[in-house]
This record gives sequence, C-alpha cells and structure tokens, in this order.
Amino acid sequence: MTAKLIDGKKLAEKVRQRLKIVVKSLKKKPKLVVVLVGDNPASQIYVKNKQKYALEVGIESDVIRLDKTVEEKKLLKIIKKLNKDKKVNGILVQLPLLSHINEFDVINAISPQKDVDGFSVYNKGLLSIGKDALVPCTPLGIMEMFKEYKINLKGKLAVVVGRSNIVGKPMAQLLLNNDATVIQCHSKTKNLSDITSKADILISAVGKKNLITEKYVKDGAIVIDVAMIRDEKNKKWLGDVNFEKVSKKASFITPVPGGVGPMTIAMLLQNTITAYKEQNKK
Ligand code: GUN
Repeated sequence: MTAKLIDGKKLAEKVRQRLKIVVKSLKKKPKLVVVLVGDNPASQIYVKNKQKYALEVGIESDVIRLDKTVEEKKLLKIIKKLNKDKKVNGILVQLPLLSHINEFDVINAISPQKDVDGFSVYNKGLLSIGKDALVPCTPLGIMEMFKEYKINLKGKLAVVVGRSNIVGKPMAQLLLNNDATVIQCHSKTKNLSDITSKADILISAVGKKNLITEKYVKDGAIVIDVAMIRDEKNKKWLGDVNFEKVSKKASFITPVPGGVGPMTIAMLLQNTITAYKEQNKK
C-alpha cells in the first residue's frame, strides 16, 4: 500500500480561511495576548508565527515580552490583569518557562475561559469527563485532520505513543471521547512494536527520530507524526516516523514538516474565537 498524504499545511490554510470569515461576522475583533519570557530561539519563532497568523485571520494579537530574570510574582500579576481586561479573550504563556518559575502555578493563574492553550486543570478536567472545553491545540488539530479526511474513529484501535500533558494525554482523551479504543504507550512500555503494530490509528509524540519503522505499523494503518526534531547536519526537520518506509505500508500518513505543526497554530486561532464567543454569549 502507498499512503495518502495528510496535508496539514493545506488544511491549516483552509481552516484559517474559514476563521477569517467567522471573525468578519463578529461584532469586535477577538484579542489574543501571548506572554513570552526570556529569549529561547524556538519560542521566539513560535510566537512570531502565532502573531503572523492571528493577524492574517483578523484576530488582534499582543505579545508581552519579559526578561528571563522576571519574578514569578510579576508574571502572576500580569496574568491577573489580563484576566480582568474585557478586551482580552485569550491568554497564552509560551512554554517552556525558566526553572525559577512554577509552570503549574502560572498556567493555572490564567482564567479558564481565556486559557486558549487548554492547559489549565479546569479545562483538562472538562476534557477528561467529555464536556466542552478549550482543548490543547495540537491534539485538536489532529482531530480536525481526521474530520477532513473522513477517518472514522468509532471502535478503531488507536495507539498513542507519548503521555505528555500537552499532547499525549489530551490526544488519548479526545480519541476516547470519539469512540476509539485507546492504548497509551510511553517510555517505559515494554515491547512497544507488539502494541503499535496492532493499531488502526497510530499517533507518535515522542521526539525520537526513526522510532517508528515499518515493523511498528500495521498494513493500512493511519499514522500521525507529532514530533519535530531538528537535524542540524542536514538542515532538515524530522519526525518519529521513518516516512520513506512507513508510507509504503500505511493508508494515511502525515509528513514532517507540513503535517501536524501548521494545524497547532490554526487551532489556537480557533480556540481564541471559541473563547470570544463564550465570553460574549448573551
Ligand atoms: N511550547 C511548545 N508548544 C507549546 C504550546 O502549544 N503552547 C505553549 N504555550 N507553549 C508551547
């Protein structure tokens, strides 16, 4: 079998076009505020892209840049002010934070109604009991891919490799909430390939190049690669999946780059609009 490509770049463009129309129909422009602490180069690129696409869709976007020495108290004060600001619909604190700052306390200081990353315990709790919530953007983007490519999840065996709070756990919950049978694997899982090779849908979010070779994949499986690993030597981005080999066996596959990555930002914009609508409900 030769896999069909799931084109995240194209789908993200389509989602942004859709969101642009939605924004035009709103009374006011939704507003997203991104808080960036320090000068992590990857974070700077992510934040720049978040701003660029927010602007494209018509979402107002501010970036608050703070020095890497900023005290947690000051950061919490800024978040509290943003929580109260009626003009602000979405707040995102770019991760990772520096080690002197407690990430949990900062994320959970964000009002759950403005938590467009869906990382707060409140939104995570709602997701875990299957209620409407602001859902983390990467797994939400993957669900959008399933919808677009008419991939039915009901009763399918979905295996998620990775258990992070940002991707692995919310991904497994979304799949479960949509009637898949879910197995969650992680770094301590024994005989990983015995499990992954049974999957109808395989989602890998580890960050280890060539982890998923053809022996890990069932014939005709749907393979989603969440990893983004920089290969400085060849100036390339790589995923967990050996694309060349696995694409000969799978029925659908996401590339890296141009797969899951572009969907994450599109879903952040969608979450900002969702937050705006909820806050402006009569
Ligand atoms: N750092 C890497 N990915 C993310 C994300 O989705 N949200 C935030 N806030 N920080 C990140």
